[in-house]
Amino acid sequence: MVGAQTPVKKATKPSQASPTINGKAVYTQYCMPCHQIDGSGVMNMNPPLIKTTYVLGDQTRLINILLKGYNKGVVIDEDEYTNPMPSFSYLSDTQIAAVLTYVRNNFQNKASAITAAQVKKVRSSK
Ligand code: HEC
Repeated sequence: MVGAQTPVKKATKPSQASPTINGKAVYTQYCMPCHQIDGSGVMNMNPPLIKTTYVLGDQTRLINILLKGYNKGVVIDEDEYTNPMPSFSYLSDTQIAAVLTYVRNNFQNKASAITAAQVKKVRSSK
């Protein structure tokens, strides 16, 4: 093909403006009702997000919890949580990356950021 136009779609660059601000907004809107403002959850209903292996551990698993929801019954500090976690696949890659980065760097957590590109990859690998 001669002269085929390459659409220069500017990769929306992860803005340097603190992603934690966006993440906090997403968290407040979508996660807080269940996991509470400080990530402490609700005993026997919604697990805490404080230093759990899910939050700090494997990033693909964590991204999948949001994309697919989760209903395996997690056990955290000897409490089993049997309620299902709904899927948030309708959120954008950027929103999911922002909220997970927020969670991984708040509630006493300290872990690397999650990027929209990672979310996209996990989403497309189904
Ligand atoms: C309707 C209530 C509800 C909402 C809203 C909700 N969750 Fe959950 N979440 C749960 C439940 C219940 C579980 C445990 C699921 C299980 O045991 O299989 C869970 C599990 C998790 C886990 C893994 C276990 C842990 O505690 O580390 C993470 C991480 C998580 N949620 C993050 C989020 C994030 C981020 C949001 C917002 C985008 C969110 N949740 C919104 C109820 C909710």
